[in-house]
Amino acid sequence: MGMPWLRFLLLLVAVAQWRPHADALYARSSEEEMASCLAAAETEIARSPDKDELHVTTSWLYKRDVARYFCAIGSRQLSVIELGVYQGHTTAVLASIFGQVIAVDIESEYLRASLEHNRDRRNIVFLTLDTYADDWNVLRANNVNVAVIDADHKYEKVRTDAHHALSYLAPVDYLVFDDFGMEVGVRKAVGELVEAKALHDCQPVGRGKDESPWWLKGYGWINHTEGVICRRGAGSHEAAVADYLDIAFLLYAQPSDSLMRASSVVSFQAEEQVLWSSAWGRGAWWRNVLEEPRKLQLSASLPGLPNGSWDVIFNRPRTAFLMSQVGDAEAKVEWFGLRADKVNQVFITANEFFE
Ligand SMILES: C[S@@+](CC[C@H](N)C(=O)[O-])C[C@H]1O[C@@H](n2cnc3c(N)ncnc32)[C@H](O)[C@@H]1O
Repeated sequence: MGMPWLRFLLLLVAVAQWRPHADALYARSSEEEMASCLAAAETEIARSPDKDELHVTTSWLYKRDVARYFCAIGSRQLSVIELGVYQGHTTAVLASIFGQVIAVDIESEYLRASLEHNRDRRNIVFLTLDTYADDWNVLRANNVNVAVIDADHKYEKVRTDAHHALSYLAPVDYLVFDDFGMEVGVRKAVGELVEAKALHDCQPVGRGKDESPWWLKGYGWINHTEGVICRRGAGSHEAAVADYLDIAFLLYAQPSDSLMRASSVVSFQAEEQVLWSSAWGRGAWWRNVLEEPRKLQLSASLPGLPNGSWDVIFNRPRTAFLMSQVGDAEAKVEWFGLRADKVNQVFITANEFFE
C-alpha cells in the first residue's frame, strides 16, 4: 500500500490518456434534442438554394440527411471541419447542428461570402487554406470529430484530403463526401479507402440514395448517390493512398544552381509503372519492399538521363523526394524532386498582392 503518490501519478497519467470510446462520445440524442437540432437545420435549409438552382452546393435532401444522421448522435457536442465552403450554404446547416465548425476554402472571397451568409453565427472559424498544397499542421491542434470533404473533386485531391483528414485530425471518426455521384474521382478515392478498411459503413445521403438514377436540372441523369457518410475503420489509410502517383514533380539537380531552375518535370505514372520526364523521355519505376511500411522508397530507371538507375526516397507527406544513384555507397543525393503545385503556390500567393 506504500507510495500513494505513485498511485496518484499513475491515475493522473491514465486520466490524461483516456479517450472516450467512440460509441460513448457519439451518444444517441433524446427525442427533444433531436427535434430541436432538426428544426435548426430546417431553418438554414430554407435559406439556401437547392442543387438545381446552384449546382455547386449540396441538395436540400443531402443537407437534411446529414442533419438527421448527426443530430441523432449528439452533434451539438461535436465539431466538424468543412473542406470547400463556397458561399457557406452547407456551412450554415453544419453550424446549426454542430457545436463548432471550421470552414476552410482556398478562396478568401468565398469565405467572405460565407461569413456574410452566416453573420449571426459565433461557432464558425474561417480559414483560408489550400487543402492540397498547404501544410495541415495548422489544423492539428483542433479537436475534430467529422470532416466534410467537398473541395477539389479530382481523384488525387480527394484522396489527399481524406488521407490528411485521417492523419492530422483527431479524433475524426466520420468522413462525409459530397459529389460522390457526379465525380468519378470521389467514388474512386472512397472505394480505395473502403477496400483498405480505413473507412466502413458508408451510408448514402442526398439524391439517388435509394440507388435510382436522379435528374439534376441543367446537368442530366446521375447514376450514383449524391454523397456518402462513412465511419473511420480499423484499417490503415496509409495503405490506401499512393499519393505520389500521377502527380507532377519538379526535379532540381543537386547542388541547385543559384536561380533554383528545375531541370525537368517528372511523374511516376501508375499505369504500367512508367516514369515520365519532360527532359529525358520515359523510364520505369518500381516500389521497394521495406520493413517499415510507412516509408516510401522506389527504384527508378530513366535511360535518357546519364547514370540512369536511381534510388528514390520520399519524405513522409510524399511532397518531395531525393534521388541518388543505385549502388552509390555514400548515397550522394544528385536530384531533389518537389511537388509542382508546392512551387506554383508560392507564385500564386505572391500574385494575389498585385491588385
Ligand atoms: C463544391 S464547392 C463547395 C460547396 C459547399 N461545400 C456547399 O455545399 O455549398 C468547392 C469549394 O472548394 C474550394 N476549393 C477548391 N480547391 C480547394 C483547395 N485545394 N483547398 C481548399 N478549398 C478548395 C472552392 O474554392 C469551392 O469554394
